[in-house]
Amino acid sequence: MQSGPGIENNPILALLGDSTDGPDDPVEQTHSIFWRVHDPIERCSQIRSTAPPPVDLPNSDLFWATIDVNNTADNEELYQFLSKNYGADNVQYRLCYTRDHLAWILQPPGYLPALHLALRQKISGSSDQASQLVGFVAGIPCTISLREAPNSNEPELVPSMEVNLLCLTPALRGLGLGPLLIREITRRILTLCPRTQMAVYTTSVPLPGEVARSRYYYQPLNIPRLVECGWMPTPDAAEADYYRLPRSSLRPTVRRLSVADISEARSLLNRQQAQFCMGRHWDSDIEFQHCFLPRPDGTVETWIIESPPEDGTHHLAGLISFSVIPFVPQTLGREAPSTGGPIRAAFANYAVVDCPRPAETPGEGHIHPCPQRLVEIYTDALIVARDLCNAHLFNILDTQHCIELVEPLHFNPVMAATMHVYIYNRKVRNLTAPEIGIVLS
Ligand SMILES: CC(C)(COP(=O)(O)OP(=O)(O)OC[C@H]1O[C@@H](n2cnc3c(N)ncnc32)[C@H](O)[C@@H]1OP(=O)(O)O)[C@@H](O)C(=O)NCCC(=O)NCCS
Repeated sequence: MQSGPGIENNPILALLGDSTDGPDDPVEQTHSIFWRVHDPIERCSQIRSTAPPPVDLPNSDLFWATIDVNNTADNEELYQFLSKNYGADNVQYRLCYTRDHLAWILQPPGYLPALHLALRQKISGSSDQASQLVGFVAGIPCTISLREAPNSNEPELVPSMEVNLLCLTPALRGLGLGPLLIREITRRILTLCPRTQMAVYTTSVPLPGEVARSRYYYQPLNIPRLVECGWMPTPDAAEADYYRLPRSSLRPTVRRLSVADISEARSLLNRQQAQFCMGRHWDSDIEFQHCFLPRPDGTVETWIIESPPEDGTHHLAGLISFSVIPFVPQTLGREAPSTGGPIRAAFANYAVVDCPRPAETPGEGHIHPCPQRLVEIYTDALIVARDLCNAHLFNILDTQHCIELVEPLHFNPVMAATMHVYIYNRKVRNLTAPEIGIVLS
């Protein structure tokens, strides 16, 4: 099976090499879900050996640069640029990442500053070479685990790049500059990251060649605030009651993740993610700590459940992680309604619960999905988000095992909010949302 129809029309297919060429072997199509026909390493080294020059820009006022997120002025410029411009036209609300959140997303261990790619435009009439940020895209390294079917054989760990935060200033849209940003980030990835074999990308608008799509669902946590800003109509008493959480306080075995938990937590989550067709893998404790250790700015919240002590020691029986991100109405070209600041939206990242293994399940280390315990740990996360993080709503995608939460925890679909997933330099069959473990933003 090849990924969706019309793939040849995908404007960003150049990323990491055009995956439409090469043999379409029907036997491989039947038997191999993740194709290896392109030998990505060979293709990449061919491209590398030619050391292509930077992508040409259509006029001399535009030039390539990078953003240094550790530099206060750069960080502020990127924050201002994305907070005004990032978000597709088809969505009602868009993410407004904070300065700290941007620095966190862009700088996992192993990040390359050269992949924080800026497009700048000289300010006409200025004598001092002044310029402004007019475009941005980032390449963020991660390791992805691929397997042909859930729980089939061993997964393959693929050094990958998540391409994210693609954005152009509105005045320069529709001129073909978006594909140039993609080509330049591709060139940099190929030139600077010899190990990278594939890339992933998501959009909220459908483009040709998606391999998966996933829906957002939400749970209101602060109904008066959501009604005030127009997110939802005023519910009647029965509806308001319907949204009440099954319990109002945390279980005593639940606590925030600490540095001492990192190794055990990484092992637990890597084992669970390896069971999905496309999961995430954390190569080191340092990387895991970056992604999960709760941060004072609220960017990352991770909570764990401890099992009852055995031989006096606790063991980690579950983990849940989410981020709280300001959500603002999509107001490009329009006046923002005066609704008292952004919505604080929690976004679920990863969740795993280690349930006792039924006798018939495969091998030691297999994480057995357990819907009831998942509902329990999500209830804890909803309570933390509401009471400690002051979040107004909690969003999940229907990836991982999350569809099993929708009914018991009364999640609603977010209207017209779909995430489309694309993979470059690998041919994959179309995946269903529950076959995806990795959280892509
Ligand atoms: C996404 C964006 C950079 C596209 O840049 P652009 O140069 O204006 O794109 P154009 O309108 O010239 O279209 C060029 C191609 O890019 C494609 N494109 C549209 N949205 C895209 C997206 N989100 N990602 C990648 N390519 C996209 C178009 O399909 C078009 O292909 P076509 O010519 O075959 O139809 C720009 O619209 C933007 O900044 N939007 C706001 C931020 C945003 O939505 N970012 C993506 C979040 S998912």
